[in-house]
Formats: sequence, C-alpha cells, structure tokens
Amino acid sequence: MKHLTLRRPDDWHVHLRDGEMLQRVLPDTAKRFARAIVMPNLKPPVRTTADAQAYRERILAALPSGMSFDPLMTLYLTDRTSADDILLAKASGCVHGIKYYPAGATTNSDAGLTRIQLGDDAFAAMQACGMPLLIHGEVTDPSVDVFDREAVFIERYLIPLMQRFPRLKIVLEHITTQQAADFVAQAPANLAATITPHHLLYNRNALFRGGLRPHHYCLPVLKRETHRLALLRAATSGNPKFFLGTDSAPHPRHDKESACGCAGIYSAHAAIELYAEAFEQADALSRLEDFASHFGADFYELPYNQEHITLVQQTRHLPDTWPAGDETLVPLRAGEAVHWQLVD
Ligand code: NCD
Ligand code: ZN
Repeated sequence: MKHLTLRRPDDWHVHLRDGEMLQRVLPDTAKRFARAIVMPNLKPPVRTTADAQAYRERILAALPSGMSFDPLMTLYLTDRTSADDILLAKASGCVHGIKYYPAGATTNSDAGLTRIQLGDDAFAAMQACGMPLLIHGEVTDPSVDVFDREAVFIERYLIPLMQRFPRLKIVLEHITTQQAADFVAQAPANLAATITPHHLLYNRNALFRGGLRPHHYCLPVLKRETHRLALLRAATSGNPKFFLGTDSAPHPRHDKESACGCAGIYSAHAAIELYAEAFEQADALSRLEDFASHFGADFYELPYNQEHITLVQQTRHLPDTWPAGDETLVPLRAGEAVHWQLVD
C-alpha cells in the first residue's frame, strides 16, 4: 500500500462558520491542518480586531480536547474600514489578512466593497505594515459571463490595484482559470494564489452530471477542463506562488438544495486526501508537501509546523449526508469514495 508522510499542512483559506456548524466542521480541519486562515464572512461579518479576537476564542472553545489548532484570523474589508483598523489588526498579532469581497460576488459578501477605490486608505496601510490582502477575484458586473468573471477581474481591477500599490502582498484566492494561473506565475513575488481541491479535481461538467448538482456549485464556479489542467500544472509546478487553500464552505443541505441554491462546497472532511488524489493524477505526489506545508507559510512569513502526518492510499466510502447540529451537511464525494486516508 502506498504511504505518504508530509509535514503537517496548513489551510490558507477556510470557512469555519459559527455555532453548531463550527462545532461540526472544526475537527475535520483541525485533524488535518495545524493552522488555517479563517474567512470572516459570518453574519454579521468579522470587521474589527475585537470581532476577530472574539471569533478566535469561539473557535478555540469549539476545539475537542486534546486537539491543537491555530486559527489565523482575517478581517472583512468594508467601505468603512480605515487605515487605523488595519494598523490595530497588524499590532494584535491575531489578524493575518484582510479579505476583499466585491459586494455581491459570493455568499455573504453584501458588506464587501461597493467600489474598489473605497479601499485605498486600507490598501495603503496594508502595504505599509505588510498585511496581506486576500481577494475574491470576480467582477460582479451582470453583463459579464459568469465563467469569465475571474479573468475580467484581473484585467479590470487587479492589474490597476497592483499598479497603485506595487508592494502590497496579495493572495488571489481560489483561482479557477488558466488566465489567473498565468497571471500569478508572471507577476512579482508579492502576488500569490490559493487553489482548492475541487478546482483541481472537477471541471464544470460536474455541475450537470445526470442532472443539476448543487453540491458542486461554488464560487468562483468550476470551469472547463483546460482550466482544470492549467491549475493542476500550477499547483504541481513547484512554484512557491501557488499553495493550498481548500475554500471548504459548509452550508446546510436545504440551502444548497433549493430553487436558489447557495455557493459553497464542503471538503474539510477529506481535504488533504483529495489534494493527494489530484497530485497523484499529475504524477507529482513528491510536490505535495511544498504546496501544502511550505509555500503558504513562506508567503505569510510564519514558521513551518514541526509535526508530520501520514496518508495511505486506501478507499473510504462516504455517507450521503452527515448531521450537523439540527442541520444536514452534504460533503464533497457524498455517497462516493475518497482514495487516500489519513493515518491517525
Ligand atoms: C463561500 C461561502 O460559502 O462562504 N462560498 C463559495 O462558494 N466559495 C464564499 C467564498 O469563498 O466565495
Ligand atoms: Zn471562500
């Protein structure tokens, strides 16, 4: 049986939610990852350092005893975020990034920036103090085709932003296109990108296999096969600008299976295992450790984790659903199999 041991990885983009859902999903992440960049799109959003500190305490309180996990907090950039808010966040040591959602771009993004220029004071402060900006890179212009929203964002907003703030550290989150992979690869070292397991393993056909598949719907939406292959090449290239970020985004089943189903795929239950599948597909398992355990830490200027994890190539069948408090959660690969297992 094939084994793979790696330095314990980190998840540089995850949604842990709050309350009962947090309770349900946190152990899945904490079992695999030592640290995670925790997204701030709660309702209401995590806007201030005090909000982030309180949320961090709730996460730590939800951690089963005996498990260790370090939540790296983020703030939600709004039209009202000031330079002082950024400096306070930096000084706290608890906040590791500021998340920019264009208002209306994705789940719980209504409080995001209504115009990117309204972020300029905050961007200047981030550039000055070395606080990374984490970008949901999709335009919200309804006249732009949904599959083109990332590529258009790069041209319309990211390139001008990088010209205005050339030393700002930026993570283009959950990239989904060849255009994004190419753009990040040729950009200066202060631009990096996270890549999800689902964008490495699935193309947009997965949304329509035998009928409409709401559990494969996320934003940015899955793209065509050429883009998946470009992402797989980027992730396995050994280029330190590309690192692991699951974008695991749990939702109650009834919100997904609805006349207007929400975006988000839950993958934390098998995250590193799914990345192993993708890397194996590209015959690049030897590159997984850098992608999962080194390059993100380098970008965020954090030390490497000291423990290791072991994966074994073995099939596990997943149930169709899991209870999550009073709700039901449908994980990625529900009713199907995952082909690597974490050794406890
Ligand atoms: C995320 C969520 O559900 O919070 N959904 C998603 O499809 N990725 C929001 C986000 O990261 O865009
Ligand atoms: Zn996300």
